[in-house]
Amino acid sequence: MSAPAWRVRPAGPLAGRLPIPGDKSISHRVMLLGAIGTAPLEAHGFLRSEDCMATWRAIEALGARVEALPAGGVRVLPPERLTSPAGPIDFGNSGTGIRLMTGLLAGRNIDAVLTGDASLQRRPMERVAAPLRRMGARLDTSGGCAPIGISATGPLHAIDYAMPVASAQVKSAVLLAGLSAEGRTVVRQPALSRDHTERMLAALGCPVEAGEWGAAVVGPARPRGGRVTVPGDFSSAAFFIVGGLLAGGERPLELVGVGLNPTRTGLLEILTMMGARIEITRLREECGEPVADLLVWRSELQGIDVPPELVPLAIDEFPVLFVAAASASGTTRVRGAEELRVKESDRISVVARGLEAVGIKVVEQPDGLLIEGGSMTGGTVDSGGDHRVAMSFAIAAARATGPVQILDVANVATSFPAFEQAAASLGLDIEAVSPGAAA
Ligand code: S3P
Repeated sequence: MSAPAWRVRPAGPLAGRLPIPGDKSISHRVMLLGAIGTAPLEAHGFLRSEDCMATWRAIEALGARVEALPAGGVRVLPPERLTSPAGPIDFGNSGTGIRLMTGLLAGRNIDAVLTGDASLQRRPMERVAAPLRRMGARLDTSGGCAPIGISATGPLHAIDYAMPVASAQVKSAVLLAGLSAEGRTVVRQPALSRDHTERMLAALGCPVEAGEWGAAVVGPARPRGGRVTVPGDFSSAAFFIVGGLLAGGERPLELVGVGLNPTRTGLLEILTMMGARIEITRLREECGEPVADLLVWRSELQGIDVPPELVPLAIDEFPVLFVAAASASGTTRVRGAEELRVKESDRISVVARGLEAVGIKVVEQPDGLLIEGGSMTGGTVDSGGDHRVAMSFAIAAARATGPVQILDVANVATSFPAFEQAAASLGLDIEAVSPGAAA
């Protein structure tokens, strides 16, 4: 069976108001921290995407229970202690799920095998295994990748670890392992990376320190239960931020309940430098995270050199930023973004081929891309099975001069299951087709 495809036709301006579904990073952390708590943890706005459902099933395989609440909420009921699962745990496409779970389980006397789909089995896992081994964990990777074998070990010892990459997944894996280690576990980061783990640990009463330098926890510690609200995912809003800038009408597009954690909003800074008009309204706080509504006006963008220090703060938004750059005037240069090559796909290469397929000139570099802005034509784009690439080209199609067919879009369900309906509600002419149907 071939994976589904989309055909997106140029249509009238995008317009309207869209509530943004829950944050994927935070939803994973609800399951992980809920599973080791001292009391039940309730979360409203939990994202029921394939990635987060994999983490939900994983904690159930380890002895936790999860109840579905009305209006999409969840209640996580932690066991007295986690127990070894009966078989391998499958994280599907989810790098966050597998890496954070490796840290969580490393010092809990558990035997487990953690694995995932073909894409996940190609992604680097030694970046989490190496520091965890230094804490005393017994871990085997398969040539550096999943499946990851975890062998039971008693309590770990605290370490002071300087990460070579600014990765929130590595930082979080070590901090979660630090919860079951004796003493102060410190993770130092070479640049700012997302801090949802630190914020949720603090909200749930664990002794945590955090700053631009990194973070530390003092173990052993268990989060308390309680109630949290998951903000809308900035990375999901990003597609419609760019959609509104490129193809909005006279009125601004309104995006409701968008998480604006400053370690996630590099895209807003970059787009503003490019000339975007985006207004932040009704700024509030939910679950220790800033949340607001955004008003996005159609704007003429200019190409820029993207400051490399903003790369980790916009790491998941580059596919859609590249699309914005493709319709800007002038050249946009992105450097220092080699991490994009080890995401759900090689996002530098997959987006470069996609942009070429819709008539845009690009120059691929080991750590980035040069994009010459122009006019996007219709064409056929292979998403490489990458959810964010698929959604980015659906947005590109709103500005293209002809229909765009996007192949291999099934993985959109890993982060934004309702994307098609959300995009259609704002006026995007998007339909599911059999791959190969005439574009
Ligand atoms: C995530 C961290 C980022 C990001 C991923 C989610 C997280 O990965 O790309 O989508 O939830 O911690 P890295 O930390 O590896 O950059």
